[in-house]
Amino acid sequence: MKDMFRLDGKIAIVTGGAGGIGEALALGLGLQGATVVVSSRNQEAIEKVAQKIAAESGKEAIAIASDVTDENSIRNLADAVVKKYGKIDILVNAMGMNIKRDAFEYPMEDWDKLFDVNVRGTMIACKIIGKVMKEQGKGAIVNLSSVRGIRGYTGGNTGYCATKGAVELITKALALEWAATGIRVNALGPALVITPGTKHIAENPELARKYAAAVPLGRIGMPEDMVGAVVFLASDAASFVTGQTIYVDGGLTAA
Ligand SMILES: NC(=O)c1ccc[n+]([C@@H]2O[C@H](COP(=O)([O-])OP(=O)(O)OC[C@H]3O[C@@H](n4cnc5c(N)ncnc54)[C@H](OP(=O)(O)O)[C@@H]3O)[C@@H](O)[C@H]2O)c1
Repeated sequence: MKDMFRLDGKIAIVTGGAGGIGEALALGLGLQGATVVVSSRNQEAIEKVAQKIAAESGKEAIAIASDVTDENSIRNLADAVVKKYGKIDILVNAMGMNIKRDAFEYPMEDWDKLFDVNVRGTMIACKIIGKVMKEQGKGAIVNLSSVRGIRGYTGGNTGYCATKGAVELITKALALEWAATGIRVNALGPALVITPGTKHIAENPELARKYAAAVPLGRIGMPEDMVGAVVFLASDAASFVTGQTIYVDGGLTAA
């Protein structure tokens, strides 16, 4: 049981690994000993993150570009990782997007874009990398949900909430379907996290106070707050945990 949270010897892929949350998760996995493969569509961005992980963890980290909406692209990613390292132990799907639209006027092409990345992309990554894990008889997947996967929200978030609800059910259904294969499938459910995409909130004192006041722990989350739960879910410490979402939300969903 010693070092059960450590990830030494494990190979981890983080999709959306150059995103606000994904970068922190990729670095966190690397600092706990995993060899990290950072992925997203932007090669330059993922290379920067891989270099940062290598510099801070002393472990190898590499960047392989991929698009989660494209099955061939994810197949190429999986093949490249298996060719280089012989296995994939951990998949963290930290990619995702939001498009806020008035529900009365919702452009269905935006609805489709959201579902393409957040839902279809999650399933594509799970099924292709899950198949590698099945052959190994072991693997841990962590999908990025949100408190919006179980709580509705105003402000044009109907599409986003719907995709995250779907991510939660993909997570539970795969956890059951794959339980006998040794693959565990869980999710992380953050509340608002300050990232480049949401930093305008932190920079607006009135808005920041409003958001913080809604959180029982009294502050807005930072990407680093997300790391502990994902390291846990990816590690052997969570070997009896599957089909769960951990809400790292300062207590928001306790109400
Ligand atoms: N920030 C929050 O407050 C918050 C709260 C709850 C949940 N979440 C969830 O946490 C996850 C990460 O959020 P974030 O704030 O870190 O977002 P972010 O900073 O916008 O990062 C999103 C990442 O996803 C990648 N991505 C987008 N489309 C992709 C595609 N088709 N294929 C591969 N990668 C793709 C982006 O890279 P490229 O564009 O280079 O591909 C980027 O690395 C998302 O699922 C989000 O819904 C965020």
